[in-house]
Amino acid sequence: MIRKYSYGTPYETYATVLEMDTASEPIPYFSVEQTGEGLHFSLSLKEDEAIYGLGENVRGINKRGYLYISNNVDDAPETEGKHSLYSSHNFIIVAGKERTFGVFFDDPAWFSFDLGFSDPDMAVMTSRYGDLAVYIIEDDGLNAIAKEFRRLIGRSYLPPKWAFGFIQSRFGGISEESVNETLAEYEKLGIPIDSFCVDIDGLDEYQNFTWHKENFPDPERFVKEKLAQGIHLIPIVDVAIRKDENIPEYVSGAEEDVFCHNDQGEDFVGYVWPGTCVFPDYFQEKTRKWFGHCYQRYLNMGVHGFWNDMNEPAVFAEPEGFRRGAEKLNSICEEYSFLKFGELMEFQKILFDLEKAGDKFQHCIDGKRIPNERVHNLYGAMMTQGTNEGFLEYDPNMRFTLFTRSSYIGSHRYTGVWLGDNHSWWSHLLQNLKWIPSMNLCGYLYTGCDLGGFNGDTTDELMLRWLQLGVFVPLMRNHSAWGTRQQELWRFSYREKMAKMVNIRYALIPYLYSEFMKCALRDESMYRPLAFDYPDDERAKRVEDQIMLGGECMIAPVYEQNAKGRYIYLPEDMLMLRMRSVDDFEEVKLTKGDHYIDVDTDQLIFFIKRNAAIPMAKPAMRVTDIDPDTIRMHGWLDREYTYELYDDDGLSKNVDLETGIRHIKAGM
Ligand code: GLC
Repeated sequence: MIRKYSYGTPYETYATVLEMDTASEPIPYFSVEQTGEGLHFSLSLKEDEAIYGLGENVRGINKRGYLYISNNVDDAPETEGKHSLYSSHNFIIVAGKERTFGVFFDDPAWFSFDLGFSDPDMAVMTSRYGDLAVYIIEDDGLNAIAKEFRRLIGRSYLPPKWAFGFIQSRFGGISEESVNETLAEYEKLGIPIDSFCVDIDGLDEYQNFTWHKENFPDPERFVKEKLAQGIHLIPIVDVAIRKDENIPEYVSGAEEDVFCHNDQGEDFVGYVWPGTCVFPDYFQEKTRKWFGHCYQRYLNMGVHGFWNDMNEPAVFAEPEGFRRGAEKLNSICEEYSFLKFGELMEFQKILFDLEKAGDKFQHCIDGKRIPNERVHNLYGAMMTQGTNEGFLEYDPNMRFTLFTRSSYIGSHRYTGVWLGDNHSWWSHLLQNLKWIPSMNLCGYLYTGCDLGGFNGDTTDELMLRWLQLGVFVPLMRNHSAWGTRQQELWRFSYREKMAKMVNIRYALIPYLYSEFMKCALRDESMYRPLAFDYPDDERAKRVEDQIMLGGECMIAPVYEQNAKGRYIYLPEDMLMLRMRSVDDFEEVKLTKGDHYIDVDTDQLIFFIKRNAAIPMAKPAMRVTDIDPDTIRMHGWLDREYTYELYDDDGLSKNVDLETGIRHIKAGM
């Protein structure tokens, strides 16, 4: 059951799809109080209660014990001390013996979740402006509540099947040659791959919808040539557009008046990658249409995948901020004081602070000028809606690959999310695992992290271990930053071991795609904390480094340097697959309980429930070449098991569970 409560004058956020009346009785569970700080929703927590949700965020699967602030920001690295990341997903489930319920705070402005941070026994949610809708979701158990929430927010984005293939990316040095070189090396090593991302250095002076003139001299030919080899190019699309009369998007956008204004009615101007830039006001319908239309140049060439970036929005500085920064530096040169020096530690905020931009950065909503801070967390989501307009214009029945950095609940209907600029740290490999089920709870099924880590130098061992998790993650992308160690798999000493892992991924694609699509079409989570599937198992509730995958599996990657094994808790009997490669693996029958499992660096482990079975196919170099006739079932079966294998054309929106499911029998 879902009930809706309304406070102040909520903005249209497009987060929900159910038309609902506002309940007239007071909201249950919470006491509500207005102070100078905002509108507070307080709840005293019982000792046994866990809190799940919040999508993209730091810290545990159980979110209790910290302060999380919904305030989309580009503030890498995503360390434990941060309170805000790129996206805001204001849905939580409070789960305990006496009560279990979900609550979604549909508020696009600054919003905080003090989940036992100030007082371990209290959860206090604060809306800075008090204009919001709140939904209380009750049902029979955690999975049922999660499903009910998805009914409220609508069906998750469906990528094409090729989006489940391996994606290679690198910020720095992309060209026709570099793509061809990596392809040839991957071919030699037998590493399957489906796509290459094109980062801003592959564009003409970092301009959206272009190609670098020397590195991609004939993009039409190149795109065609790659498509013929089964390879997709996925260019980046940033928010900011250079204010320059030679840039078609600037000219057409200025003509149609689609950019964000300041209180003088002039375009807001800030500095980002391409230089002095303007920022599309995606809150206006005409902007979304105009922006979507800009993609046609790429779409018409056969480019059918994109990543939307810098859409918090990220603004490095503004002209006035530069002056302020210079003054600060001068004043410290004249006379050092620790206080002045301290301010410099926050230099970025001197250059530009969106939170304090006030009327400098406005949107036009329903004809009214609204400062960004009132709807801030929706900006990336609105950009993505604009992208979707472009897709519909090109072909309303086609599925496109899309992942974004900034999002809000609602954009899960249009896009996947990658989790931003992580680091080549072991802690981020574990964080990656914790993110996935929380993202699923908020509707984001197509999600993943930069495998190997974006910033910092990765190592052979870290890359290999990260790939062993990446094998199971829908968005499987290897991406790294300018100036860091090159991260294409062929460059590592462990390249052959890595090749085997990517092959295991391709062997699992029929299963992963099937589970993904069934979950998307049934409004279910593909990845879940153990507590969701084993609500009566006290030990399962404490597990933070293993997650359930689909209807049959559990994954538990190794995430520590030099580890040759790890502890595992099995909530029921399971078959462990310990795999060196698609053909070289052991099946070990394990009983419910605790186990220490040996896992050499070149081995990947995962678990299948007893009396369930999963399909694995012969891998191929591209997703489309995987032959379903090569499928073999794996499981520990005491009786016959029937697996529902979903498949479809992988490209169109003709998706249907009735016709797409084939029953495969295994065992006995
Ligand atoms: C941002 C993105 C990163 C990208 C870089 C250059 O930092 O998060 O993935 O490589 O910009 O475009």
